[in-house]
Amino acid sequence: MNRISLTRHLVEVHRSKGLVPTALQQLLETVAQTCAQISQAVGRGALSDVLGEAGSDNVQGEHQKKLDIIANDALLDANVWGGSLAAMASEEMDHPFFIPNHYPTGDYLLLFDPLDGSSNIDVNVSIGTIFSVLRMPEHDQRAATEKDFLQCGRRQIAAGYAVYGPSTMLVLSVGDGVAAFTLERETGTWWLTEAQMSVPSETREYAINASNARHWEAPVKRYVDELLAGASGPRGKDFNTRWVASMVADVHRILVRGGVFMYPRDAREPGKPGKLRLLYEANPMSFLIEQAGGMATDGHGAILDIEPTGLHQRVAVFLGARTEVELVTSYH
Ligand code: AHG
Ligand code: MN
Ligand code: MN
Repeated sequence: MNRISLTRHLVEVHRSKGLVPTALQQLLETVAQTCAQISQAVGRGALSDVLGEAGSDNVQGEHQKKLDIIANDALLDANVWGGSLAAMASEEMDHPFFIPNHYPTGDYLLLFDPLDGSSNIDVNVSIGTIFSVLRMPEHDQRAATEKDFLQCGRRQIAAGYAVYGPSTMLVLSVGDGVAAFTLERETGTWWLTEAQMSVPSETREYAINASNARHWEAPVKRYVDELLAGASGPRGKDFNTRWVASMVADVHRILVRGGVFMYPRDAREPGKPGKLRLLYEANPMSFLIEQAGGMATDGHGAILDIEPTGLHQRVAVFLGARTEVELVTSYH
């Protein structure tokens, strides 16, 4: 079979659409290669010393797992020297990492959730890596600051994730639809296995952590109650619940066979607008979902239009099939 590699795909997209200049191609290939390495570590599990707690906390006060740190360090090491970036930011670092003076810089900014679904690491359930690429605002690359990362999601140049599941896949958008690649573990090659993903419009599946139901706001309660009422309720059909607790795996399922994913704000911590982080979780996933014909809101407006105020700010997330996201958003 005449397969198309990630490299060939990026070259061809650039040839036809002009969307992947060499510096971006190099950056995306480096990220993909690092995800292949992380996949290797994940796959070795207990055979390597990669499971369990790291014994430290991140800036959000969450306990870090060894793999959170391993994945974070792998992404930093691989992307520091290439010359495409001015800085990187991550869930696992309080502040951005600026490219040191002895390496060349470029005008891209890379953000990542190095290991998404940390609670699933030790129980051998799918986890992933999420990333987002922005362009530096126009000023000296050597003078990059944290503020440069605070751009709305619409301005993402590229976004994607790797999912470490039964097979390892990379799902990527450079603003020209969504393509999926599968890792050939033996050779470390990413092969194009789905050229144009699109969120199916019809669905009977929804994802939400129902253990928080008592804390939900009225619009979310109303929407989920209507789903739960099934065939005899207002929706006239039965729905299934799916909740992996790895956003990557839940979003991947939605890109493949449809559905809606929700992590609403709730009354547990009234000061916090939801659990998921805008810049390296919600924005890249919303970019992919919109590029695949779906919709992503915070219950009020498009996530991609939110002007960020902080590197680690949180946001409520409703994403997936357009009609479902429109409905739950209208209830707000
Ligand atoms: P992370 O492991 O990067 O902190 O992200 C975990 C996130 C997300 O992947 C998932 O959808 C959600 O947390 C699960 O939250 P609950 O444990 O509250 O269900
Ligand atoms: Mn995450
Ligand atoms: Mn994480």
